[in-house]
Amino acid sequence: MTKKVLVLPGDGIGPEIVGEAVKLLKALQAQGAIAVELEHGLVGGAAYDAFGDPLPAQTLEAARAADAVLLGAVGGPKWEPLHISKRPEKGLLGLRAGLGLFANLRPAILYPQLAGASSLKPEVVSGLDIMIVRELTGDIYFGQPRGVETLASGERRGINTMVYTESEIERICRVAFDLARKRDRRVCSVDKANVLECTELWREVATRVGADYPDVALSHMYVDNAAMQLVRAPKQFDVMVTGNLFGDILSDCASMLTGSIGMLPSASLNAAGQGMYEPIHGSAPDIAGQGVANPLATLLSVAMMLRYSLGAPEVAQRIEAAVSVVLDQGLRTPDILSAGMRRVGTVEMGDAVVAALPT
Ligand code: IPM
Ligand code: MG
Repeated sequence: MTKKVLVLPGDGIGPEIVGEAVKLLKALQAQGAIAVELEHGLVGGAAYDAFGDPLPAQTLEAARAADAVLLGAVGGPKWEPLHISKRPEKGLLGLRAGLGLFANLRPAILYPQLAGASSLKPEVVSGLDIMIVRELTGDIYFGQPRGVETLASGERRGINTMVYTESEIERICRVAFDLARKRDRRVCSVDKANVLECTELWREVATRVGADYPDVALSHMYVDNAAMQLVRAPKQFDVMVTGNLFGDILSDCASMLTGSIGMLPSASLNAAGQGMYEPIHGSAPDIAGQGVANPLATLLSVAMMLRYSLGAPEVAQRIEAAVSVVLDQGLRTPDILSAGMRRVGTVEMGDAVVAALPT
């Protein structure tokens, strides 16, 4: 059955990297490996420019009707002066909330060919394979009250609220434990239970859920220690589960272990298995339009889409294998370039992955 994919290139390098993903999907379609119908839409700054709204109603509707959404990136300096409610990031957050995409999977896997590109010593990162499970529709990102108010004294005060219900914590922990069962059966739950009541509850619920998974080893770690451990000895982790804000920060940190943030894909899933797929890097306005952005995180996001939403895990594996072949060939975008390797741009990298697809 033909699956519907909504393509949202977004801003900055978004259109360039998504262009390579579309090329890959069309090549797989031509090979008869998948049957997809692509629809295009606007989100973020691009949508604001066209409609005055970073998430136009028709984009959210199209996303709801799709089997999966492929997103590039949103944001850029052009839209920074806008009120926070109109900024491109609101488009992304609105999609996450509107589709109920509570489970964000961010795998940090080191391709052995890139061990030298990591900021850490090769022996510290070689074989790295961490799955960060980030809760995506709760926490301080969405908590009320929020805003900036003016006090009687005339001074202003900014407010955001960290909030989690037990059921929100429970469902994301279940996602983490279920994933761990397909991996090394270890979950590290990250919180700040020594200071924040909200995450003290998180720890309690994680422990309770963990009792249903006696075959999975559960540990707990404070977020500051987790950040330190990620750069000290990252291979100690299998699955990490944490809230929205901590997960945002820790996943950027983990990405550098793999050589470049340009390598990390992500999947954001709802209870129905519908998903949005995007590279975890942003819109990189500093290099937009130059044809140098690394498309691999986006191509690997297509692989996650095939695995988690389109029921084609074997095609996902073919994409991942092709990425490995291209790295073996020595092709590198500037972000992962090292001595002796061949520097290529976005399009050349995308072409190479398509050419390397095992048939
Ligand atoms: C991410 C990004 C987003 C986030 C921004 C662009 C709103 O940093 O996906 O990690 O904070 O979640
Ligand atoms: Mg982030």
